[in-house]
Amino acid sequence: MALPPGPTDGFDLGGSDESLALMRDCFGRFGDTYRVFAPSRGVYNYVINHPDDIKRVLLSNHRNYTKGEGMDRVKILLGNGIMTSEGDFWRRQRRMMQPAFHRRVIDQFAGLIDEVNEKFAERWAASAARREPINLTDDVSELTLEIVLRSIFGSDLARIEQQMGANPFEVVAKETNRDLKFAFRFRSLAKLVAEVIQRRRREPEAHFDFLAMLMATRDRDSGEPMADKEMIDEVLTLIVAGHETTAAALTWTWYLVSQHPGVASALESESDRVTAERLGLDAAESLSYAHQVIQEALRLYPPGWLLTRRTIEADELGGYAIGPRSDVFISPYMLHRHPAFWSDAEEFKPERFAGVDAAERHRFSYIPFAVGPRHCIGEGLAMFEMLVHVHRMSQRFRLTRASDEPIELEAQINLRPRSNLMMTVALR
Ligand code: HEM
Repeated sequence: MALPPGPTDGFDLGGSDESLALMRDCFGRFGDTYRVFAPSRGVYNYVINHPDDIKRVLLSNHRNYTKGEGMDRVKILLGNGIMTSEGDFWRRQRRMMQPAFHRRVIDQFAGLIDEVNEKFAERWAASAARREPINLTDDVSELTLEIVLRSIFGSDLARIEQQMGANPFEVVAKETNRDLKFAFRFRSLAKLVAEVIQRRRREPEAHFDFLAMLMATRDRDSGEPMADKEMIDEVLTLIVAGHETTAAALTWTWYLVSQHPGVASALESESDRVTAERLGLDAAESLSYAHQVIQEALRLYPPGWLLTRRTIEADELGGYAIGPRSDVFISPYMLHRHPAFWSDAEEFKPERFAGVDAAERHRFSYIPFAVGPRHCIGEGLAMFEMLVHVHRMSQRFRLTRASDEPIELEAQINLRPRSNLMMTVALR
């Protein structure tokens, strides 16, 4: 069987911000399946961009794949949590954690999501009164970090802050480099998590948060709890996975809304119609326009813009042979702009996610949370907190960009605007 075509000059996919431009170029020249020589590893990497092949790798033939290139680096940060682990161990951990992400559980985070948003709304109102722009990138990063930390540690977060005089986890939002130095600082937080676990054992009290659920969960077969080391890796995984992606998605959402005043007005009308004091999960999901806006933002700028998998045995993708132990790259960014599956692919049109259009789409042409057994465990929580945030803020504010400098993409682990996004906030 033939090998896929590809450029003569190699490059390391995902190795630099140029990757996206190079991938666009390769897609234009070679189509849905191509291979690129990776100079750093001296091997060929494979890129696929057809929804049928993506379905095969992530779902129908997923047993033939492990996570791929880049995971060693992520492991230094996250240890052996469910983002990076494999095989039976991953299956066991995922099974033990899944109930914590059930709708009934997520619904109970409504109160804390509201409180955090209220705090930021007050802050934005003060900036509006002073006519000072806000640093949206920093604000949504703090907001999503606080939501994920409070959903993990509950009331212990305030206790940790009090004890340490500051929130020690803030380094996650303040330091955006994801290099070895950061990994070292971040891993040192493991000790704090261990202390919280030990204190909870010494002073049993009712808690409702992810940590309590991790401590209570039992292996279905052996009846054993999670070891402390495993729990710590899962907690650190949830902090990073739950914070950065959601922050990036909200940054992109506000950026796009600020560029489309008609969309901002429609969001505001919806937010004026739905005036419930507290939005539960069902109510949040019924905000159909806000939902479409967020889905469309995740289409154009999926934070998880590059997924990697590695074949175990050889496979066939797009009619080409892919050898064993080969890295296969899937870019939701490229897929979500595929001209054969999306009309006006480069345009921001939230209505495309309404009704008929959505039903006609290829199911595997839209994967901001991935698909298959390793899809995002936090999807429900992420959508919930984003809906509440966009809704609440639209009720009170209109955001306008404070400068018209073009936005540059930073395509590292997550896809973000390279510079902080400054916004002017006006009270409505
Ligand atoms: C807009 C927000 C989010 C986006 C776009 C997103 C996207 C993704 C994607 C694409 C994956 C698959 C990665 C891969 O296959 O290589 C993933 C996995 C994961 N996500 Fe999310 N995520 C978001 C929010 C969250 C939240 C809020 C949490 C938890 C609180 C979370 C926890 C995880 C975990 C633990 C995994 C690994 C699952 C596994 O392999 O079993 N994510 N996410």
